[in-house]
Amino acid sequence: MILVTGATGSVGRHVVDGLLKEGQFVRAVTRNPATAGLPAAVEVVEGDLSAPEHLPLDGVTTAYLIAMGDNPYEVAQTLADNGVSTVVFLSTSEVLDDTDEQPGAIAARHAAFEDAIQRSGMLWTFLRPNEFAGNVLQWADQVKAGDVVRAPYGDAWSAPIHERDVAAAAVRALVDDRFHGAKLVLTGPEAMTHREQLGHIASVLGRKLEFEELPAAAVRERMARFAPVEIVDALLGRLAETVGKPTTVTSTVYHVTGRRPLTFREWVAEHVEDFR
Ligand SMILES: NC(=O)c1ccc[n+]([C@@H]2O[C@H](COP(=O)([O-])OP(=O)(O)OC[C@H]3O[C@@H](n4cnc5c(N)ncnc54)[C@H](OP(=O)(O)O)[C@@H]3O)[C@@H](O)[C@H]2O)c1
Repeated sequence: MILVTGATGSVGRHVVDGLLKEGQFVRAVTRNPATAGLPAAVEVVEGDLSAPEHLPLDGVTTAYLIAMGDNPYEVAQTLADNGVSTVVFLSTSEVLDDTDEQPGAIAARHAAFEDAIQRSGMLWTFLRPNEFAGNVLQWADQVKAGDVVRAPYGDAWSAPIHERDVAAAAVRALVDDRFHGAKLVLTGPEAMTHREQLGHIASVLGRKLEFEELPAAAVRERMARFAPVEIVDALLGRLAETVGKPTTVTSTVYHVTGRRPLTFREWVAEHVEDFR
């Protein structure tokens, strides 16, 4: 039995579908089973990674884990103590190895999960994806409302990855022991700036869209009303850090899944309705 946390998430739903196609038994965790909308073939259970002691783990040998909950060490130890032998963890490409100082709160949180999993004695694979293509959904309301997207750091670079490719790599790592002990840095097939991402959205929609750069300080002030300031600083800090530095593209999706990674334009073409 494979436990899938974050099963309702943008990656997790594809992980569930991929595991079902592989003929695996899936137990999907959500805080709200009534609204989860998961396939009927899945055992849906209520659970919260903030209270890992209540996770139903009987019969679970393998887990797909996301970085949620308050205490990574408690989460990892609970899995290990209850017979889970293998974990595939959705980390981030921001995590740096061999340092005590991670570049911001987001990397630090994921690094703590990685450390907790390694200390637990379970077999592990760490997925370290670059920015998800779906992050551009944050512009959807502006695209629907007009021809200008106002956002910070138009010249920040990333190699946006389709969430289905992250999930495909997760599925391979969950069912195939070749990837134990691997840190898989996953990117999309091409590096581009955020301004160029908007250009692709415009061209797929057949519209003219302009990127208007907002000053980071103003964005920080606004975002800090809704999110912890250390997370806001980590998000903006990552964007600032990548200005003028094209992201290194990896071939990991191809090597792990055996097929080419999906392009950003393919992601947009699948999501045109979200921008209309
Ligand atoms: N966005 C990026 O560019 C990027 C890049 C690299 C890594 N990541 C990592 O990807 C992960 C997000 O994955 P995603 O996109 O699949 O998810 P998502 O679409 O953001 O959805 C969040 C998921 O987390 C679950 N969740 C939230 N709080 C929880 C808790 N306390 N206990 C258990 N589950 C909880 C939700 O489940 P329910 O609501 O059903 O309970 C939902 O399935 C994050 O850890 C993020 O750091 C993101």
